[in-house]
Amino acid sequence: MQFVGQKLDSLLGEYLKPVDENWQPSDFLPDSANESFISDVKLLQESCRELPYDYVAVLIGDTITEEALPTYESWLMDVVGVDQLNEPHGWAQWVRSWTAEENRHGDLLNKYLYLSGRVNMRAMEVSTQYLIADGFDIGTGRDPYRNFIYTSFQELATNVSHRRTATLAKQFGNTHLSKICGVIASDEMRHAKAYKAFVSRIFEVDPSEMMLALEDMMRKKIVMPAHFLRETGVKMGDTFSHFSDAAQRLGVYTTNDYIDILDALLDEWKVEHLRDLNEQAEKARDYLLALPTRLRRIADRTKVPELAYEFSWID
Ligand SMILES: [Fe+2]
Ligand SMILES: [Fe+2]
Repeated sequence: MQFVGQKLDSLLGEYLKPVDENWQPSDFLPDSANESFISDVKLLQESCRELPYDYVAVLIGDTITEEALPTYESWLMDVVGVDQLNEPHGWAQWVRSWTAEENRHGDLLNKYLYLSGRVNMRAMEVSTQYLIADGFDIGTGRDPYRNFIYTSFQELATNVSHRRTATLAKQFGNTHLSKICGVIASDEMRHAKAYKAFVSRIFEVDPSEMMLALEDMMRKKIVMPAHFLRETGVKMGDTFSHFSDAAQRLGVYTTNDYIDILDALLDEWKVEHLRDLNEQAEKARDYLLALPTRLRRIADRTKVPELAYEFSWID
């Protein structure tokens, strides 16, 4: 961590934006101090009226995932090498600044959904409170290698899903919502670049251990941060499966996206061409290089459930 974080200032400068230059949620929302507020909200609601059920459900699930940020920040603060007490401007600074950018995502989506008139906000808030209280179990432990693999993967996954909800919003005639999802997607891409770069640095100095960490994470499968998602009266995690099915049906985030991300990461980290691996790491590499093809075969055989589920979030 000391090696990767040697020039943390320049990492912050390269991958995060200065606060004053960054967009804020209110840049994309009707101004409640403005006289036109009520009519602006009416227009906003008009543009949300025809959004399909599954689409609204996925947007809500995405929002709740973003809103569980306290779980992610507290998790990352506990990673080995992050020390907010003795080195508040070391890795702890990265975690705080990353969190500060991410915090705008849930904030913006939540306010938009509140104004949209399509959401049972109380039911959604119950799910958010549950999710934060339930935490997550992502199989990384406190190990920075595994955590940076996880965050690389996740930032790419959220980039895909926000990008797709942006494209769909446009198709449904809602350019405002499309812009909102689009700006969030581009933040996720910036963050993905950062975490991918951290992993690349570690591959340079400790290729065998990094390879073993990657194999371990892929054997366990990368779970989504909201995998414990639930609603009142629903078992922990069951709402997540319905949310994930809806995302598959819409093509917002699919099994094939998971495999594409894996492919892209293997490529990015030049896994095929790494030198100086020990025997165990060579085996791990063999497993990893064969994995995308294997997963694609399984994906071709699995069907997305047609069954529509009624979420308590939408009346
Ligand atoms: Fe985010
Ligand atoms: Fe993110």
